[in-house]
Amino acid sequence: MNTPTYTKVDSALSPPKKDFRFLLMAIVAGLGGLLFGYDSGVVAGVLLFLRGTFHLSASMLGLFVAIALGAAAVGAAFAGVLSDTFGRRPVLIITAIMFILGALLAALSESVAMLFIGRIAEGAAIGVSSVLTPLYLAEIAATHWRGAIVTINQFYITFGIFLSYLVDYALSGTTGGWRWMLGLGAVPGVILLTGMLVLPESPRWLAGHNLLEKARVALRFLRGSLDVQAELDHLHKDVVEDGRRAAPWVRLLQKDVRKPLIIGVGLAIFQQITGINAVIYFAPTIFQDAGLSSASVSILATVGVGAVNVIMTLVSMRLMDSVGRRKLLLWGLCGMLTTLIIIGLGFTLNLHGTLSYLVVFMVAAFVGFFAIGLGPVFWLLISEIFPLAIRGRGASIATIANWVSNMIVSGIFLDLLLTIGRSSTFFLYAGMTVLAILFTLWVVPETKGVSLEDIESHIDTL
Ligand code: GLC
Repeated sequence: MNTPTYTKVDSALSPPKKDFRFLLMAIVAGLGGLLFGYDSGVVAGVLLFLRGTFHLSASMLGLFVAIALGAAAVGAAFAGVLSDTFGRRPVLIITAIMFILGALLAALSESVAMLFIGRIAEGAAIGVSSVLTPLYLAEIAATHWRGAIVTINQFYITFGIFLSYLVDYALSGTTGGWRWMLGLGAVPGVILLTGMLVLPESPRWLAGHNLLEKARVALRFLRGSLDVQAELDHLHKDVVEDGRRAAPWVRLLQKDVRKPLIIGVGLAIFQQITGINAVIYFAPTIFQDAGLSSASVSILATVGVGAVNVIMTLVSMRLMDSVGRRKLLLWGLCGMLTTLIIIGLGFTLNLHGTLSYLVVFMVAAFVGFFAIGLGPVFWLLISEIFPLAIRGRGASIATIANWVSNMIVSGIFLDLLLTIGRSSTFFLYAGMTVLAILFTLWVVPETKGVSLEDIESHIDTL
């Protein structure tokens, strides 16, 4: 039996304790998704009060929501290029600062212009972190941890939305409460900033830029061990091979990428045009329209919707590998279709007293069905279906398509209510859901239990 040899190490060099590092990575992992959820969900409550403070029309309120989403699309588009050039860490640090400044600017705004500028900064930060946080984490985490990151991310998004609803509710009775709703988004931003100042640059990025000594120091920190030579060699080999393999953007036009691209972009668009964020951002507005008495009762009902979202996301995470992605997607879509039709009918029949409860219940069920399928399955599939050489780029195209569709749907929702009316708006989403079901039946494969390599070589026959 070998007796281990102990080397005395200089304490300045010794890596931090395991628990501390794990905690730090877990916090940063959570915050990317949490801020995505918080900053997008918080507008639900804010909207009810902005109308009074700034005398905004329906179109301007729509623009207030959409402007952050447009900025998110731009942020998502540049996240890859910026972080490839300057490193993951500096870009994430600037993103955290933008989260903080954006929240404070919007919270303290005395004019519509300042409010919008604050939301643009926050939106851009959401977009960058929707791409970069999972990427950075996949690069710093030990291999066995990677698969979980994508699903955990969706959990944190829904948890962030739920948290924002709770804050909205707690502050809905306070004068100027909307300022606190927006401003509190700075808190997770500060935690993210602190975490990123402590965490090192991605060793993979460092190795890719031939900064091997720095990569060694980073790995020692992350693994809590001085003996990282084997991993460093492996990483170096991997990065060099990847460099050789890395395909240019035009690779996205080749035949074997066509199907993944159709699936990724198609699901991105369907995830939005079936109406989820009309509900996530405007639920209190919809509930007030349906006859709930006050702003705070409407926001309380919205907290319930947020809770259903979190719980059903957890259920979906448990079922993803046993039931399968395609089945969950189809079940969820059928449920969404049914609830959308009932909401549309409810508004047509104008059921007064009972109508409000029917709408609240059906909206909660709609979100639950989304959370079982289309919500998490989209984010998971775009990390699985593209060939390795083009995986990052394929996923970012799908992410951008998701933000752009979100911006359009959310930006015109209030105008749609005014022009075609409440029932027709929900029937329209029902129509889109029928198309989403046909699309899924036609093109979405089952990837449950299939290795990434097999998905890559058999995507056309799956
Ligand atoms: C998904 C969607 C996002 C939506 C959220 C609701 O993450 O991409 O747009 O707000 O689910 O839970």
